[in-house]
Formats: sequence, C-alpha cells, structure tokens
Amino acid sequence: MNYYLKPTLILALWATTFVILSLPTPSLQQQSSSFEQSSSNRTSSSSSFDQNGSSFEQWSSNRSSSSSFNQTTTFQKSSPGGVRLQNAFTALQAWKKTFTSDPFGFTSNWVGNNVCSYQGVFCAPAPDNGNVITVAGIDLNHATISGSLPDRLDLLPDLALLHLSSNKFSGNIPSFLSRCKLLFELDLSNNLFRGPFPSVFLNLPSLKFLDIRYNQFEGVIPPQLFNLKLDALFLNNNQFSSPLPSTIGNSPVSVLVVANNNLKGCFPSEISKMGRTLDEVILMNIGLKGCLPTSIGGLNQATVFDVSSNDLTGTLPESMGRMQSLEQLNVANNKFYGEIPNSICDLPKLENFTYANNYITKEPIQCLMIMDKNDENNCLDFWLSQKSSTECKAFLSHPPSCKCVGSPPPRPPPLPRPSPPPTKYNAPKVPGIPTKKD
Ligand SMILES: *[C@@H]1O[C@H](CO)[C@@H](O)[C@H](O)[C@H]1NC(C)=O
Ligand SMILES: *[C@@H]1O[C@H](CO)[C@@H](O)[C@H](O)[C@H]1NC(C)=O
Ligand SMILES: *[C@@H]1O[C@H](CO)[C@@H](O)[C@H](O)[C@H]1NC(C)=O
Ligand SMILES: *[C@@H]1O[C@H](CO)[C@@H](O)[C@H](O)[C@H]1NC(C)=O
Ligand SMILES: *[C@@H]1O[C@H](CO)[C@@H](O)[C@H](O)[C@H]1NC(C)=O
Repeated sequence: MNYYLKPTLILALWATTFVILSLPTPSLQQQSSSFEQSSSNRTSSSSSFDQNGSSFEQWSSNRSSSSSFNQTTTFQKSSPGGVRLQNAFTALQAWKKTFTSDPFGFTSNWVGNNVCSYQGVFCAPAPDNGNVITVAGIDLNHATISGSLPDRLDLLPDLALLHLSSNKFSGNIPSFLSRCKLLFELDLSNNLFRGPFPSVFLNLPSLKFLDIRYNQFEGVIPPQLFNLKLDALFLNNNQFSSPLPSTIGNSPVSVLVVANNNLKGCFPSEISKMGRTLDEVILMNIGLKGCLPTSIGGLNQATVFDVSSNDLTGTLPESMGRMQSLEQLNVANNKFYGEIPNSICDLPKLENFTYANNYITKEPIQCLMIMDKNDENNCLDFWLSQKSSTECKAFLSHPPSCKCVGSPPPRPPPLPRPSPPPTKYNAPKVPGIPTKKD
C-alpha cells in the first residue's frame, strides 16, 4: 500500500504501531487475545466485524505490519516536560473533569503532570521535532467512561490515534479534531454520540481508519465521505437514513461496513468500481432494493460480500463467478429467485455461502460441496426445510422487477441565486455581521 511511503504517515503509523505493540493495559490484552481468536480463523465474516468491540485490531493485523517500522525510540514513561506536554496536561485534566463515571478507575492514575504515565496515554517524539515528546495516542477502549469531549482537547494537535470504543461518551464531536492533521485512526464505536454525521471527519487529511459503529448518528451519509482516502470505514448500527450516494464507487477502502442502518434506496451499482481495493463489504440490513448488477463481478478482490436482510431481488448474476477471492458470501433474507449460477459455487475459495430465505428454485450440485452452506426456506424441489409450494408459486408467478423505485436521491443543494445586477444602492451594513466580499 503506497500510502505507507508518505513521510508524515510513516510517523503517524509509527506512533500507531508503537501503541499497538506496547499495549500495556489488561483490557487491551484481553482485546487482542479475542482478536487473535477471530483472526486465526480468518473468517472476518460479518459476524466478527459486526460486534461491539474494537474492530481496529482486526483491521490493523494485516495492514500496518509492524515489520515495516523501526522501533528506534523507547516508550517515554517518564519524560521531560515541555510545552506540548504541559498543554496535554491541561487538555487531559479538562477532559477528566467531564467524566461523570469511570467504573473501572481507568483514569485513576491521571494525576500529576507526567501525562505520559497516564493509563491509555501514549507519547512519542513529535513528527516535526524528534527532540520533543508529545502525546501521540489515546486509547480508552472498553473503559466504560461516561463523559464528553471538551473543546480543550484542541491542545492535543499531535494525536495520531484516538480510540474511545465502548465507553459512554456523548455530546458533540468537537471541531478541534480538525486540528489533528496526523490523526490516522479514529475509533468512536459503541458510545452514545448522536446527531448528524460530524462534518469534521471530512477534514482530517491523514485519516485512514474511521469507526463510528454503534452510536446514534442519523440523517445523511455525506457523499464526500467516499472521496476520502480511507482504508476502513465502519458506519454500522447507527440511524443513518439516506440512500448510499453514488460517490461510493470513489472510495479506496478495503473494508466497508454499513450494516444495520435505515438507508433504503437502490443497490449502489457504483460499488462495482471498487474492485481494485475492496476486500470486505457488509451491506446487511440497510433496506436495499433492486437487483445485483452484472458489474458486481468486478469485485475480484473481495473476500467477504454480505448483502443479507435487504429487499433485493432478481437472479444472482452469473458474473459473480469472477469474484475469485470470495470466501464468505451472504445473500440470505432477500427476494432472490431462480437458479444459482454454477459459476458461484465453483468459486475456488468459497467456504461459506448463505442464501437462506429467498425464492431460489435450483442449486447446482457444486453448491452442495461448499463447506458451509445454508439454503433453507427457498423454493428448492424435493429438498428439506423449504417454503410451501403455494408460497413459491404465488411469488414466482409475479416476481418483482429489478426496477428500483427507491427513495429519490437527496435533493441537491439549492443553486446559488444569480447575483443581482450591480446597483448603485449599497445595503446598509448590519453591525456584527461581516459583509461578504464580492
Ligand atoms: C474457528 O472457529 C470455530 C467456530 O467458528 C471454532 O470452533 C474454532 O476453534 C476456531 N478455530 C481457531 C483456530 O480458532
Ligand atoms: C454491545 O454493547 C452493549 C452495551 O455496551 C452490551 O449490552 C452488549 O452485550 C454488547 N454486545 C456484544 C456482542 O458485545
Ligand atoms: C495477511 O495477508 C497475507 C498475504 O496477503 C495472508 O497470507 C495472511 O494469511 C494474512 N493474515 C491474516 C491474519 O489475515
Ligand atoms: C531500522 O533501523 C536500522 C538502524 O537505524 C537500519 O539499519 C535498518 O535498516 C532499519 N530497518 C528498517 C526496516 O527500516
Ligand atoms: C457462515 O455465514 C453465516 C452468515 O454470515 C454465519 O452466520 C455463519 O456463522 C458462518 N459460518 C461459519 C462457520 O463461519
């Protein structure tokens, strides 16, 4: 991945890797061991990315391989003071003041001005000056702290990593984050954040990993989100309600999880353009309509493809036989019908093919050889656990068309009003409101 080569990112990554390698807290160790469990099986199926906990370890395991970094600096437990650390002290104490509950005493050693010794706080030489130590990462995963993110956190501009998964933080996402030009990983999953998608996430030039799963964000998923140079994006288990924008095809992510939102809208055929990078895509239970396009076969790097529990119909495209990397395929709980193409069950790496709860009428014999397959509740003749022939006949005599009458695309922003012709009249200045320069 060529972004590793960019110097600033190397530093950010360095900090990242460093933090991961120096996981000192029991909770983190727990996490990584549960991660090892899931990764040793390398299923990375929907189920593993769909859990509450931090997805970061999973994502990072195979992406920022530690061997590409040189751990030449030792972790600064007791560090010399300095302006940046003094600022960090101010920021962290202001933050701690917002904590209304810290049930495990995670931050009980956040006293005194040696912030580098605080649990969950990681220091490293500053990217712009290797002689200065600064706070490079904060990891409070699984601390179950209640609190908010105060504006004073703007005194931590060198953050490369902010992991706050599985806490009870609420309130605004402060705009200070846009000062964190090195922020590489942002994990706010499983908290109590709510409201519209925070636009500040769109202004983080180094961001590669964005995880806001299990919150209560709502409204529109901004189209610009998919123009960012992210590598992993988790939006699942929120209350987003706009159809996936067509910009989705621009996204270079390798992992995309949007499951369990109320998006509605048509299957985003533009996703087929992500073939060069997309490894795992989970679009489960987001109200998608329409059919899978033939172009979907272009996702030839995808190992996990999950569009289960939607309102999709049509037949599974023969072209899916081009998805040669596919290991996990889940199309269950939709309205697919007709024959499963041979090409799918012939896929060389396919281990788990779930198509239960559809109106499939025929499965080729190859499908029976797949290690893990679920074909229940379809319309397969003379087969176990299928729908009644009445139900099948009723559906198959009028199968839904692919025509997707989804919700209309989001209304474009109003056109700027044509500027009025110049007049001699100068509007009086309203005090306090800066006038626009024309
Ligand atoms: C793989 O997963 C199965 C169940 O999903 C589990 O029984 C098995 O122990 C796992 N294997 C490893 C090596 O973790
Ligand atoms: C997710 O988190 C909630 C609340 O924090 C908890 O009740 C639930 O058991 C968690 N689920 C999983 C799968 O970890
Ligand atoms: C990491 O990637 C390599 C090569 O792509 C692969 O062989 C290996 O199994 C992967 N490891 C894990 C834990 O996914
Ligand atoms: C790590 O640093 C050492 C000494 O500075 C150098 O010789 C080595 O090539 C570096 N390794 C990598 C992978 O950059
Ligand atoms: C196969 O996929 C289904 C659906 O994603 C999942 O429920 C099941 O646990 C998977 N089986 C294995 C062994 O991973």
